Amino acid sequence: MGVVPAGGRPYVLLSCATSIDGYIDDTTEERLVLSNDEDLARIDAVRAGCDAILVGAGTVRRDDPRLVVRSERLRRARVARGLPPSPVKVTLTGRGDLDPAARFFTVGDADRIVYCASPAVAKTTELLDGLATVVDAGDPLDPARALADLAGRGVGRLMVEGGGSVHGQFLTAGLADELHLVVAPFFVGDPGAPRFVGDGRFPWHPGRRARLVETRRIGDVVLVRYALSERCPEA
Ligand SMILES: NC(=O)c1ccc[n+]([C@@H]2O[C@H](COP(=O)([O-])OP(=O)(O)OC[C@H]3O[C@@H](n4cnc5c(N)ncnc54)[C@H](OP(=O)(O)O)[C@@H]3O)[C@@H](O)[C@H]2O)c1
Repeated sequence: MGVVPAGGRPYVLLSCATSIDGYIDDTTEERLVLSNDEDLARIDAVRAGCDAILVGAGTVRRDDPRLVVRSERLRRARVARGLPPSPVKVTLTGRGDLDPAARFFTVGDADRIVYCASPAVAKTTELLDGLATVVDAGDPLDPARALADLAGRGVGRLMVEGGGSVHGQFLTAGLADELHLVVAPFFVGDPGAPRFVGDGRFPWHPGRRARLVETRRIGDVVLVRYALSERCPEA
């Protein structure tokens, strides 16, 4: 696993794709495709460079993501570095109501950690029955506590892949070091659809601008990379 940076929490990289009007999904049953193939390959490489990948329970339920490194070459390269083929999978849940058949739990050999609010720990441990390590993360669940626990498990670099609730919490709590924002070339225009983040008091505002470290055209999408802490190096 990676070296845990000073400060007691992993380096935290947030990754998100939005429409031009800031939506991260629509309201249909289908999962909205925002990235293109080239960008998905880039995301795969970013994943391969991390020790763990975190999504909220809402994303586990709605998108049923695999959260594994897809490229055989990247998996082999990780193994050659003494790492497991894919990063540890991590989720946060308050009520614990997770489907043990979700791909988060069934695809790949990576370790899985579920940070759970205290009242639901016993129920969730029983429900998941050895499919994941269920960790009591307080009542209410405290993301900073989850990050400290991950650091204690040797996670030095964490990729957070959504959804909106999780991104909003990490951003407003100042728990993010870097943001990868991909903008897809279309609008969603449906107020019922989820946005990148909801309302909140963000550490970056007109009086405190985030540091732009990179813009990259990737086919028909654009990647914008922001440094959100001093830990984020220049491009
Ligand atoms: N475009 C993209 O890049 C992208 C990426 C990922 C997801 N998405 C989209 O994002 C949407 C899901 O976002 P979302 O905001 O609904 O869900 P989310 O952020 O994935 O997960 C929210 C859930 O996580 C748990 N949680 C998070 N923080 C918690 C805390 N501090 N205390 C207790 N529980 C906590 C809760 O689960 P419980 O309900 O179990 O209590 C909460 O309902 C989906 O439409 C998905 O398609 C888009």
